[in-house]
Order: sequence, then C-alpha cells, then structure tokens
Amino acid sequence: MKKKVLIDCDPGHDDMIAIMLACCSKDIEVLGITTVAGNQTGDKTYLNAHKVLKMISREDLKIARGYDFPLFRKLVTAPEIHGVSGLDGAALPEISIKTKPEHAVDFIISTIMSSKEKVWLIPTGPLTNVASSLLKEPKIKEKIEKIVLMGGAVFDSNITPSAEFNIFVDPEAARILFESGLPITMVGLDVTNKALFTFEDIDLLDSFGGKVSKVVAPLLRFFARTNLEIFSFPGAPLHDALAVAYVIDPTVLTTKYWNVKIETKGEFTSGRTVVDVYNITGDKPNAEVAMEVDLSKFKNMIFTMIKRYDELACSHIL
Ligand code: RIB
Ligand code: CA
Repeated sequence: MKKKVLIDCDPGHDDMIAIMLACCSKDIEVLGITTVAGNQTGDKTYLNAHKVLKMISREDLKIARGYDFPLFRKLVTAPEIHGVSGLDGAALPEISIKTKPEHAVDFIISTIMSSKEKVWLIPTGPLTNVASSLLKEPKIKEKIEKIVLMGGAVFDSNITPSAEFNIFVDPEAARILFESGLPITMVGLDVTNKALFTFEDIDLLDSFGGKVSKVVAPLLRFFARTNLEIFSFPGAPLHDALAVAYVIDPTVLTTKYWNVKIETKGEFTSGRTVVDVYNITGDKPNAEVAMEVDLSKFKNMIFTMIKRYDELACSHIL
C-alpha cells in the first residue's frame, strides 16, 4: 500500500529534490503540495513549486499556497543560500500562474479528512501552515499517520548559532507541533548537514546528460557554492530530500526517541530545538530524532531518481 503524503515546503533547492524524490517513488502517493514563505517570500516559493512540477511533468498535482508570514513574527528569508528567486542557478521553464483560491490550511484539512487512509505529513519549511491546520481542525490529528519534518538539530545550527532555519522562522508553530502529541520524526541538521551532494557528485550528475539532470546539476551547483561560502561545506546539503527518503526507506536514518522542546523566548536561543538526550527533565519523549544517516543509501536514491526522470524525459513521457 502506498503511503499517502502531503508535502508542505518552501522551494528552495533541497525542497525541489524532496518533491522530485517523492513524486518518483513507487512507495508514495503525493496527494498534493502546499507552500509556505521561508527560503523566499510566499509568492516565490509558490511559483517555484509550480516550476518544479512542470519540470517533472506533474502539473496534475495540486499546489495550494499558504502563509506569507510566521504566526507572530516577521518573515526571515534565505536569499544568501537560495538566491533572489529561491531557486537560482539555472533557467527553469518560465511559467505564469494565478494563485488558486484554496488556502494551504484548508487544502491540508480537506485532503486529510477525505483520505481513506491516514496521511503522512512531510513539512520541509517553516511550520506555519501545518500548525495552523492543527489549530483550525484538531480532528485531523486522528487521520495523521506521522509528521516527518526537516527541521531542528541536537548539536548543529545554521541561521543562528543555536537554531535551524525552519524552526527559527516560526518557533511558535514548531512548538504547537511538538506539543501536539502527534508522532513526529525530526530530521535535523545533525544528519542533513551530512547528506551532502559534493561537487564531484554534481559533476557526475552533469555527465548523465539528460533533460532533467542538465537542469538539476547547475541548480545544485549554485546551492553547493552558497553552502561552501557560508558554511565551508564541500557540497549541497539535501536537507529536505532526506526527510522524504526516510518516509520511503526508514533504514536510511537511525533515530533516538527523545523529548524535544522549542525555545520561543531566548534572546540568543530563539528557535532552538532543546533535545533532552540524557532525559534530565524526566519528560516523556515526543519525537524520533534522526542522529545517523546511511549516506551511500541516500545518495543512491537521489542518483537513481534523477536517472529515472532522464529516462522518462527521453521517452518523452515528461
Ligand atoms: O535549515 C534547512 C532548511 O531550511 C531546509 O528545509 C531549507 O530548504 C530551508 O527551508
Ligand atoms: Ca525547505
């Protein structure tokens, strides 16, 4: 039975790979995509989601636009990492779109409530839409199989010395999720910063010479360059794709069941996922926290996926 999945994202280079991986998997049925402001403003992440689906010829999938701002804070974006468009690095097909009237929150609620099976939620951006869906219709909790989110970290950080971007942008939304009682797998920077597509990997992608790989390679090269400049990483961390990879094959990650709280007040620590690795508080664990990644298994999934899209494209299915 295919896992029914909703992806809530802020494309974003790694969100793009996450969407592509989910849409290519025989183990997943993507029920739709919702977008949120994060890596770039809400209009840009919504447009980028359309560009990604057009590139893989999945314009059949519904995209619903969500919030342009966090619940209580000003928006923080990441142009230094993803560029002005949010997907800098290659000329994706220009498209003109009209924002569809249904809000992401309503789409998430209606999709979950109408699904016969429980739904997996894969948030890969700030958690504003998902938290708002839980607040607006708490009944969806009975129909959610698991939330596998890219966000947080035990020992790592990126947007500040103590926080990861998705949680930092909307910590109040993250707190709602981690206090919801829902089953959560937190795919954080401790593993995603190891899920690097190196410059050599990107060159290999280039050598595929296919219709999709020749667009994805320069996009990932841009993303790798910004990560090299800012974090001295020797490649592109495919943060969001690792969350999808875990839904497809949970053996790609090793997790620990710990209590996670979200700091929403700290002057220097706002957005920190405070992970009780020694159970010092005695509080009940509330998340499976990813601590190790099978990097070769993950990379193989990504290379195989892109090769598949190249094959489909050359057989003109795309
Ligand atoms: O911290 C990395 C996360 O923030 C990823 O989801 C990236 O796309 C950005 O949204
Ligand atoms: Ca993202």
